[in-house]
Parts: sequence; C-alpha cells; structure tokens
Amino acid sequence: MTNPMPAPEVEYSDPLDDIRERDEAMPREASSIELKGLRKQFGKDTVALDGVDLTIEAGEFFTLLGPSGCGKTTLLRILAGLEDPDGGKLLIGGKDVTDIPPHRRSVNTVFQSYALFPHLSVRDNLAFGLRMRGESAVERQRKVAEVADFIQLGSLVERRVDQLSGGQRQRIALARALVCEPNVLLLDEPLSALDAGLRGQLQVELQRIQKRLGMTFVFVTHDQDEAMVMSDRIAVLDSGIIQQVGTPSEVYEHPVNAFVARFMGHDNLFAIQRSADDWVDTDLGRLQLDPAQQRVEQQGWLLIRPETLELGIEVPPGYNRLEGTVRERLYRGSRIEYRLDINGATLMAVASNLGQRLHAVGDRVTVSVCPEDLVRVAA
Ligand SMILES: Nc1ncnc2c1ncn2[C@@H]1O[C@H](COP(=O)(O)OP(=O)(O)O)[C@@H](O)[C@H]1O
Ligand SMILES: [Mg+2]
Repeated sequence: MTNPMPAPEVEYSDPLDDIRERDEAMPREASSIELKGLRKQFGKDTVALDGVDLTIEAGEFFTLLGPSGCGKTTLLRILAGLEDPDGGKLLIGGKDVTDIPPHRRSVNTVFQSYALFPHLSVRDNLAFGLRMRGESAVERQRKVAEVADFIQLGSLVERRVDQLSGGQRQRIALARALVCEPNVLLLDEPLSALDAGLRGQLQVELQRIQKRLGMTFVFVTHDQDEAMVMSDRIAVLDSGIIQQVGTPSEVYEHPVNAFVARFMGHDNLFAIQRSADDWVDTDLGRLQLDPAQQRVEQQGWLLIRPETLELGIEVPPGYNRLEGTVRERLYRGSRIEYRLDINGATLMAVASNLGQRLHAVGDRVTVSVCPEDLVRVAA
C-alpha cells in the first residue's frame, strides 16, 4: 500500500477576483416598477400619458423610446415623484408609491443637462446629496471615494466641474446619482448632448455599470440605435400610448405596427392589397410568406428588411424572385445601400461591402427574398 500523495499547496489566482471585489464594493438593491393605467393631462387638450400599463423587472435596463413630445419625460417625472398622475397607480418594489413624495422614494435621476454645480469640485458635487440627507462627514467621504473608484474618476475628484469635458461631466452626473444608493435610476436622454464617438463609448460604459450594479435603470431616448444597443427591453411610445414592449430584436424584427416599424428605421413597408395565409400582393408583386412566421392577421403592411435581401445571385429554391433596376447606390464604407426600382415601386437593399463587384446605377438585378424574412405589420 502506498500513502496517498498530499495535495500540493498551490494558490490559484482567479482572474475574476478583481471583478468580484469591485462587485462587492457597491452592492445595490434593485426594485421592480409597475404602472397601472397611468394618465397625465396638461391643460384641456394635452394628454401626455393615455393609460400606461407597464411592468419593469428588478435589475432590468429598460428604455422608453419615442419621438419628441410622446410623453417620455412626463413618465420619468411621475416615477421620480416630481409630477402627480391624474389617474392610475404606480408601484415601486411592490409598494404603492403614487402618493409618496420624491425624497421618500428610492429613486434618483440623471438629466441631460447634468445639473451639476459648475463652481464646485467633483468631490463636493458628489457629496451634495449625502450632505442634504444629513450623512456624517466620515460616511460622505467613504461613499464618495467608493463611487469615484467605481466610475473610475479617481484623478478628477479635486477638479472643478467647469474644468471638465462634456463626457467627464456626464460621468460625474451619473456618479452623483449613484452615490445616493437608489434602487431605481432614471436617465432622461443623458447622452444626447455628446458627440457621436463619446456617446458610443458611454453607451457601452453605462450598460456595463448597470449590469455590475444589478440596479434597475429606466433610460429615455429618442434614438432607436441607442435604445437597441443598451437595453434589455424597450417600450416604444407614441402620443402617450405604449405601442410595443419587447427585447431589441423583437421590436426591430417584429414591429407590431407601422409606427413602430418606421420609428425603428424601416423604409421598406408595402401596403398589402390582397393576401392569404401564405402570400401577399403588394406593389412589388406577389410574394410567398412563411405562415408560421406571421403574427398579424389583418391587412396592413409588409415589412422587408433591406439587410435580408440578396442581390445578383442564383435564387435559392423556395425564395421569392424579384427583378429590378438599380436607381441609386450609396457607399457607406462597411456597407452599400441600393435603391431599387421593382415594377415602379422602390425597394431598399443593403449589402456588406465584401469587396466584390458592386452593382452600378442602371444595372438590372435579381433580388432573392426568403419567405421567412417577410413580416406582416398592422396598420
Ligand atoms: N409642464 C407642462 N405643461 C404643459 N404641457 C406639458 C408639460 N410638460 C409636458 N407637456 C406636454 O406633454 C407632452 C409630453 O411631453 P414630454 O413628456 O416632455 O415628452 P418627451 O419627453 O417624450 O419629449 C408634450 O405635448 C408636452 O408639450
Ligand atoms: Mg423629454
């Protein structure tokens, strides 16, 4: 019999330790939000919210998306308690807070305008809310240091806000909202004043911070790309009414109506003239559908996403074939956009720029359309 070998004493370092430590540094509670028949009217004629029913899960990155004036800010202000609804109920963390004042809700807001004190240091800006709440100097210092570390602005804390760039100011505004440890963070178009590059960078950063904190974020934007890249789910609003709630891919690939489709950036919508379960007639001609893919029963519109079309190849079996002419070609670098004329109707197509021969204006092209990619959309 041989003695079993003693286990070697090796210390493994887990590359995730660093991240875990950070996660433990700022644990946050998250709350769910429930809106039931929420209504808000300004004056006699302006119905800002027309009966909003919505459930936001705890820890979700949830986005309110819609055009200017559709009621996004009003909804956020009601969540914050800065505006009273005319009807309906609001529950945060399962509790009815409809009549609870703002300072007694565990909710904080980041505004587009930052709303920082320009002449104060970053440190004093971050400590302001804690001071108003009467927290001790020791607590203030600890929490400010923690949040500054979390958002990685350690080297900026002594600077005055008016000496910072727009992107830095927006991160301070975020840190100032987080330092008060809300269960829900509301963000009203916080990135729309920034230039495109910085905006893209902060979109990724904000999303990472939200995931690390596990906090509920309600984010407002009018930009569908921003909504898709950041959100777990999106609610599309029009005139105070929720049109659709879903994941980015649900809302983009299966918009429930023409408003949502157009707002998500779709151009290829064709009025359905006649239809059966597995085909539709439009200005493009008759197209075969996959009946299993269809959600909408009524007449309405046919949506064709430009990126699903294939140009100038052998038409695969079972695909629809369209013949047309290239009317316009837009060179976008990574992709090429074509405006095609099909039987007098305009169809947009997009192809990745893989370096093969491009189709020229005036070329006759064959377009392959997979039945599974055709979506019927309500009017
Ligand atoms: N304090 C107010 N007084 C009167 N009308 C308002 C007020 N706040 C918002 N509105 C109106 O309510 C509608 C929704 O506004 P808002 O919630 O700010 O939209 P969004 O943030 O989506 O642009 C708009 O028609 C707006 O003019
Ligand atoms: Mg607004």
